[in-house]
Amino acid sequence: MKKRLYFGSNLKMYKNVHDTIAYLEQLQQLTADLNREKYTLFIIPSYTSHEQACKKINQSLIKLGAQNMCWEEQGQFTGEISPLMLQELGLELVELGHSERRHIFGESNEMLRRKVNASLSHGFTTLLCIGETGDEKDYGISDEILRIQLKTALLDVKEQDYGKLWIAYEPVWAIGINGRPATTDYAQEKHSVIRTALVELFGKQGNDIPILYGGSVNLDNAASLIVQPDIDGLFVGRSAWDAQNFNTLIRDAVMAYDTQPLV
Ligand code: 13P
Repeated sequence: MKKRLYFGSNLKMYKNVHDTIAYLEQLQQLTADLNREKYTLFIIPSYTSHEQACKKINQSLIKLGAQNMCWEEQGQFTGEISPLMLQELGLELVELGHSERRHIFGESNEMLRRKVNASLSHGFTTLLCIGETGDEKDYGISDEILRIQLKTALLDVKEQDYGKLWIAYEPVWAIGINGRPATTDYAQEKHSVIRTALVELFGKQGNDIPILYGGSVNLDNAASLIVQPDIDGLFVGRSAWDAQNFNTLIRDAVMAYDTQPLV
């Protein structure tokens, strides 16, 4: 059976409000014909763009998300953003645990467990990012790290929320200008480790949780990644920040996926 595919981008700390809206409108127009019964598209811009983006973009075509969120609804949390504030804007998606949040801003697995719980209990589709560092890979402990990150952050997830959970596997060493993409074999192998951990956590419903690959996805590797059995989507940084480029990447991936023989 053909599975739903996911394509999205985190805009990180790039693009002002004007540029974000222009980008989103262009992407919405370029991808208007893509069947949303088969493909989910999402973009995660900066907080300052959310209000206008929510007014101008149809989230049944492109879901909009936040790059982080506090686990509390209000309180003395200077610089944080509350689930109620994101709900008020009408956002549907929250990304948690991006490697830049973990490694530059010190977010721990325990903090992420609280954030995942808060995000799901406020009704957000929740995209949890996990991934090993280059050192962890060199020590040969990538699988252990992925399992710890998943099993800690997802400890309390309730059955009613399984359908709102997405995972992004983003090996830290593969992200950004100094990153090098994981080989498709390596990515598939780690997605399979993640799939097994999800099934251990959630039983056979773990098979239905989408696992997206991120880290130097580009026009050269998108098609070969998306056809891997345990890769359900692509979470793209730099190669998505031009709407035309992202549209081409999505279509290359869709074409590769759709022309595979049915298993
Ligand atoms: P790049 O695609 O630029 O490596 O970024 C990936 C990423 O961090 C997506 O969240």
